[in-house]
Amino acid sequence: MPWDLIKLNSGYSIPSIAFGTWTLGNGQGPIDQVEQALDTGFNHIDTAQSYRNEGEAGTALHESGLARSDVFITTKYSGTDGLGIATSIQNSINNLGVSYVDLYLIHSPRLAVPDIPTAWEQMEKVQKDGLARSIGVSNFGVSELETLLASASIKPAVNQILFHPYVYQQQLPILEYAAKNNIIIEAYSALIPVTRQPGGPLDKPLSELASKFGATPDQVLLAWVKAKGAVAVTTSSKKARLQGYLAAGDISLSEEDIAAIDAAGARGEKQTNAKITLRKLAIVALVGAAVLGGCSYFNVNII
Ligand SMILES: NC(=O)c1ccc[n+]([C@@H]2O[C@H](COP(=O)([O-])OP(=O)(O)OC[C@H]3O[C@@H](n4cnc5c(N)ncnc54)[C@H](OP(=O)(O)O)[C@@H]3O)[C@@H](O)[C@H]2O)c1
Repeated sequence: MPWDLIKLNSGYSIPSIAFGTWTLGNGQGPIDQVEQALDTGFNHIDTAQSYRNEGEAGTALHESGLARSDVFITTKYSGTDGLGIATSIQNSINNLGVSYVDLYLIHSPRLAVPDIPTAWEQMEKVQKDGLARSIGVSNFGVSELETLLASASIKPAVNQILFHPYVYQQQLPILEYAAKNNIIIEAYSALIPVTRQPGGPLDKPLSELASKFGATPDQVLLAWVKAKGAVAVTTSSKKARLQGYLAAGDISLSEEDIAAIDAAGARGEKQTNAKITLRKLAIVALVGAAVLGGCSYFNVNII
């Protein structure tokens, strides 16, 4: 198995690549796409209350004929419709047509209401009641995890975060904190350098490594996620691409390959940060000019 299972601090294991349903919409489309993913060999489905297609994922699971124990199901508490955690997990389980989920996450720290310790206590109850085998968080930073761990009796098993080479440096503190506390990182949107931010410093090393391994740049990115010890949470509407994602588990990047990706990612991150700073400065300059213009128009003296 190229994408191995990763042991969680709950004692359960998680398949290290997942098929996500965020962008799939509703109706027959997502049912077909989840079925296609299962048929291609994915055995980990990542959904959420806010994706509003847990029902479709559940239908696909049942139509696939696979045993419940053969598929790892993650869903998330997204605070949808103002419902609390206890009601939401029950609804998610009903939508999915299962008796438990493998992993239940708080989708974002801002949804941990009224505060992180109280919300986490409710998550612990979900696990104790057998509705989720493991519980975790998503989009949590170091300080939020510190707050959570200060009162937790069960540690989060995972933290699902934005993770690709252009945000690697900024995510390093949370990666280090998670590693120290035996919390597994799940990487979402790992393909952004090819899908939404092409044309940057990563293009060259990704294309060179793709040639070296007879692969595609998106496969190299997934292999990089694997090399960092994270679970890849990705998606595709195309069977050929899904097959490629699974095959990417066989790509074994060397230390030098990984270093080349890290270095190009860091250069891209610096450029992006510089662009953001310039944009902010331009806005400040524009606002300043407008204020000065207004003052001179209304004959107001600024000392
Ligand atoms: N926890 C959170 O807050 C959070 C946030 C975002 C996402 N997620 C999870 O992560 C999953 C994946 O997120 P994502 O869609 O952002 O991940 P991604 O893995 O970065 O991107 C997948 C998308 O990339 C496209 N793609 C792949 N290779 C391509 C190529 N060479 N050229 C152009 N397009 C290409 C695919 O389109 P095709 O369909 O055309 O193949 C697919 O739509 C979501 O479904 C969700 O489960 C979680």
